[in-house]
Amino acid sequence: MTDARLPQIIQGGMGVAVSSWKLAHKVARAGALGVVSGTGLDIVVARRLQDGDADGDLRRALAAFPVPEVAREILDHYFVEGGREPGQPYIAIPRPSLTETLRAQRLQVVANFAEVWLAKEGHDGPVGVNFLEKIQSPTPWTAYGAMLAGVDYVLMGAGIPAHIPHLLDQLAAHEVASLPVDVAESLPDETWAVTIDPREVMGGAELEPLHRPTFLAIVANHVLAQYLARDEVTRPDGFVVEAPTAGGHNAPPRGKLVLDDDGQPVYGPRDVIDPAKFADLGLPFWLAGSWGAPARLQEALSLGAAGIQVGTLFAMSEDSGFRPDIRERLRTSLIDGTLTTRTDPLASPTGFPFKVAQLPGTLSDLGLRAERPKVCDLGHLRTPFRRADGRLDYRCASEPDHMFTRKGGADDEIAGRACLCNALVASAGLPQVRKDGTEEPPIVTLGDDLDGARALLATHPDGYSATDAIAWLRGETTGA
Ligand SMILES: Cc1cc2nc3c(=O)[nH]c(=O)nc-3n(C[C@H](O)[C@H](O)[C@H](O)COP(=O)(O)O)c2cc1C
Repeated sequence: MTDARLPQIIQGGMGVAVSSWKLAHKVARAGALGVVSGTGLDIVVARRLQDGDADGDLRRALAAFPVPEVAREILDHYFVEGGREPGQPYIAIPRPSLTETLRAQRLQVVANFAEVWLAKEGHDGPVGVNFLEKIQSPTPWTAYGAMLAGVDYVLMGAGIPAHIPHLLDQLAAHEVASLPVDVAESLPDETWAVTIDPREVMGGAELEPLHRPTFLAIVANHVLAQYLARDEVTRPDGFVVEAPTAGGHNAPPRGKLVLDDDGQPVYGPRDVIDPAKFADLGLPFWLAGSWGAPARLQEALSLGAAGIQVGTLFAMSEDSGFRPDIRERLRTSLIDGTLTTRTDPLASPTGFPFKVAQLPGTLSDLGLRAERPKVCDLGHLRTPFRRADGRLDYRCASEPDHMFTRKGGADDEIAGRACLCNALVASAGLPQVRKDGTEEPPIVTLGDDLDGARALLATHPDGYSATDAIAWLRGETTGA
């Protein structure tokens, strides 16, 4: 399906803060769909405020929040004039749960508002926000915050986002809305949910209805797409179809898990995406995972796709949210031919394969991973579960082993796990400082396909911008 109003290029939502507002802003200005990552923005915004918000961007965004007192509450709590003292830890923020305090709810709303507002500031280009379905409990608040800033698209993957279309309808009308949450070990027929009351969050203010964003479900196969598309309540407005070569978390191979000699999951014929099956569904779709090249864009269009979603090419650009020294090391190792990625079946506590760039000094190093003292203080990837006494609790395979197993976690789920929450926030330049003065080590994710970035670096050895990447994808400039 082709529709001139639909973007041909979607810049993937890359967490945590790799798709920062600065990247999405550049992309949207160039007329492609700029997407901010909505993952962990409560942590990111609270920490940027504690670092003093040197350029004043966040304070400018918070000043535009529709109910000033609500934004001021967040500012008063987290902002540190001039930034933290060197070596001082960031203050703790509540870990996502099914029972959030009002301040935690407001932090999510305000943080997502700010990131989208900054990405949209001063131009008319389209901006989206990307969420992970498996991080369920914060979604009503994160989506509401993004919508208060007028987000044009919501994208969600890593799960079955069947309830999101209805949630967005309700949030646009500021209605009280519930989102079901999966809770492990629940009794049959037992259901759990989180409920947002937008009026309470907004201190009782009466607000105009919001724009209802276009919703794109990120899927890895047409079976899930067909399931979502067949009922108007669950039907998204389109699909991003993501192959297992994409950066970030990947869908596991279908069928029995088989590992190759290097311990990476083996994907087979059942994992191959058939664009014709998506074309048959009659909804627009974008192809993702190694589609970041000019010829690939044309190929996608010829297959009936509305376009492509591209991540790695933008992550490697000078506008991404990677810590500058990490970006620099990625660039030099790509140029000298030593940069590789690995599909790590263990790193993520979710059990999903996670793509890890092999970079010394980061948690691609299994020795470093094993050495890191375990602590679970961010908690975005925790699994809610029902205790034998009926109460709700949370566990994470990357938390201290004894805590995980005491809560019913299996011994064989522990080996090789990384704390992705702390490590990804560290790779965005916001690492927690521990009592002994050490900083949380980073982890870097990138897709398998590094050719596009290599081609652009050949003509821009000191780095290329997101605008350069878009011009190249559109065939307006040449790479090497
Ligand atoms: C650094 C990085 C982080 C990513 N993080 C996320 C994420 O948090 N959520 C998500 O849905 N996709 C994530 N992705 C996937 C991208 O949104 C996009 O679909 C993918 O990168 C496309 O494949 P490509 O990397 O081959 O271009 C990430 C990709 C990269 C490179």
